[in-house]
Amino acid sequence: MATRSSKQEPEDPACDPNKPISVPFEKVLQAQDAIKDAIEVTPCRRSQMSDLFNMELYFKKEYMQYTGSFKERGARFCLLNLSPEQKRKGVIAASAGNHALALSYHGKLLGIPVNVVMPTIAPLMKITACKKYGANIKIEGHNIVESRTVALEMAKERGLAYINGYDHEDIIAGQGTIGLEILEQVPDLDVCIIPIGGGGMVAGTALAIKTKKPHVRIIGVEPEHCPSFQKAMDAGKAIYTETTSTLADGLAVPTVGVNAFETVMANKLIDRKDMVQVKEECIELAILRCIELEKAVVEGGGATGLAAIIQGFIPGLEGKKVVVILSGGNIDTTVLDRVIERALAEDDRLVKFKVSVSDRPGGIAELTKLVGDLGVSIKDIFQERPWEKHDVFSVMVKMVCETRDADHSKELHEAIKKKYPNNHLIWGQPNN
Ligand SMILES: Cc1ncc(COP(=O)(O)O)c(C=O)c1O
Repeated sequence: MATRSSKQEPEDPACDPNKPISVPFEKVLQAQDAIKDAIEVTPCRRSQMSDLFNMELYFKKEYMQYTGSFKERGARFCLLNLSPEQKRKGVIAASAGNHALALSYHGKLLGIPVNVVMPTIAPLMKITACKKYGANIKIEGHNIVESRTVALEMAKERGLAYINGYDHEDIIAGQGTIGLEILEQVPDLDVCIIPIGGGGMVAGTALAIKTKKPHVRIIGVEPEHCPSFQKAMDAGKAIYTETTSTLADGLAVPTVGVNAFETVMANKLIDRKDMVQVKEECIELAILRCIELEKAVVEGGGATGLAAIIQGFIPGLEGKKVVVILSGGNIDTTVLDRVIERALAEDDRLVKFKVSVSDRPGGIAELTKLVGDLGVSIKDIFQERPWEKHDVFSVMVKMVCETRDADHSKELHEAIKKKYPNNHLIWGQPNN
């Protein structure tokens, strides 16, 4: 039997660990019909990155939904299925962002009042956007589990329908419509790579794909900092998993949904060996690749499928037709700025070094000329004298430089080593 979490939480009757539901495929078909007028059929085209990774790579661009993520599919289907009384009283949810946005927007379109409890870690742009769609927002709880407890209590007090963003049966069915679209857009796909948070998207999408095309391989991706679906697979039930902060904030769900888990396991939708954990630096690189090569702004959680390919731990993809779901694009601009810099550093295109040079007139100019002659841009330059041990006529210069690529950085490194052979060169160490 499944456990809800390590902590005592109020009950959600739609997601009962003692009576988990395996969502039927017919419900996904119903969802497709119900939501088709208000949901984008997002593109799923062959990517230029295909050649880079030796596969036929297709991106299902769910970040192109109106509110920037696939979550609208399930949210709309769920809202449409409420009783007239529930529609009048309204709904409540706990969400760090995309489910909240989707519910707020479709609640507004359908005239249903929406309340959302968001954790303190929720990205600012998502909080602001939900308010813009007219939802009543409460910021409470350090993580989604704590926010959920607050939301469930409010649901009970005020008679609101609580809508779990990854585990309500209608949510899972709604997300499954992504799978139906993929089957129409890339009918001969071999593999589909799907990010996993609470498991709603993977359960619905994999159910749709595997029901129609059982030979398609589903790969589930989680951030290394929150591998709750894999822990559930190992334990045979949804269990509480300690998580640490991740760039893929939408995937930081410590206990996966019991219905989502049941749907995956009862239908054998994913092989345990096809569950991948991605490192934060690979998520950063995936975001950078999307911007540079796909002209797409994708958030951390939305980029984990590509991150798994970049990380390179998945055997058997070469030459295959692989669909990756880019599930969301809501990333704070300030975070995006930091991600790009970190990814450039990871890519060896932003380098730093310290070198001791002559402090006599022209000494620093010689160094900057050498860098400039190689076509390298200086992003930052600092000079340190008091701690310079070489001699009193030397200065330690620290530089941060932008290069074209890793080879260009290597060329710069070689040139500086050659010009300053005995000058305490320190190349690219984190604490310098
Ligand atoms: C962008 C993005 N991708 C993927 C997911 C994971 O979806 P699920 O919780 O249904 O597994 C989320 C969840 O919020 C998300 O925001």
